[in-house]
Amino acid sequence: MKNPGQKYRLAILASGGGSNAANFMDYFYDHPKIMVSLVVSNNASAGVLEKASAYGVDSRVLAAPAWEDKHAVLALFDSYGIDAIVLAGYMRLIPGWLIHKYPNKIFNIHPALLPGFGGKGMYGIFVHRAVIQSGAKRTGITIHLVNERYDEGPILFQESIPVYPDDTPERLARRVQRLEHKYYPIVVEEEVCSRK
Ligand code: GRF
Repeated sequence: MKNPGQKYRLAILASGGGSNAANFMDYFYDHPKIMVSLVVSNNASAGVLEKASAYGVDSRVLAAPAWEDKHAVLALFDSYGIDAIVLAGYMRLIPGWLIHKYPNKIFNIHPALLPGFGGKGMYGIFVHRAVIQSGAKRTGITIHLVNERYDEGPILFQESIPVYPDDTPERLARRVQRLEHKYYPIVVEEEVCSRK
C-alpha cells in the first residue's frame, strides 16, 4: 500500500498510435491513487509520443539496442519510481529481467478472446481478419499479465461482443477498440490498487 498522498506510478509501453495510452493518460489524469509517469516507445515516429507530450507526460524512445543495456533500462524505470507497466500496442517481447523486476505487474491487452487468435503475427487488423475468416460468432478483449511468451500470461479479464455476418475487419476493430478503452484502465486500476 502507498502512503496517503503517494500515487502508484505507471509506465506505458507503446509502439504505435497510442489510443489506449492516451485513454490511460486521460483516465488517470488527476486520479487520486494512480498516475501515468512515463511513456516508452521503441519507435521514434510513434504517434504515442505526441500524445504523451500533449498530456505533459515524459516519454523516452528505447529502440532495440537500448534494451540490451538492462541496467540503464531498469535505472530509467527506477528514476520514475515505476510500480507497474502497461503494454498498449507494444510490438516487442518483454525481456525476462523486466518481468522478474515487476512480477505480476506488467499488463497487456489483446484484441481477441485468448487463447484464440493470439501469438506471433496476431496483432492489429490481422486478428480481426482471422476472427472473421474463422466464422467465430463472438470476439472481444483479453487483459492479461505478461510472461515471457506472447499472449500467454494469466488472464485477468475478458469481455466479448458478437461478430455480425456482415462485419468487416475494420468495423470489428472499431468495436473492439471501444471495449479496450472502456475496460483496460479500470482493470489495471483495480489490480494495482488492490495488490500492493
Ligand atoms: C490494441 O488493439 C491492443 O489490443 C493491442 O495493440 C493495439 C494498440 O492500439 N495490444 P492503440 O495504439 O492503443 O490504438
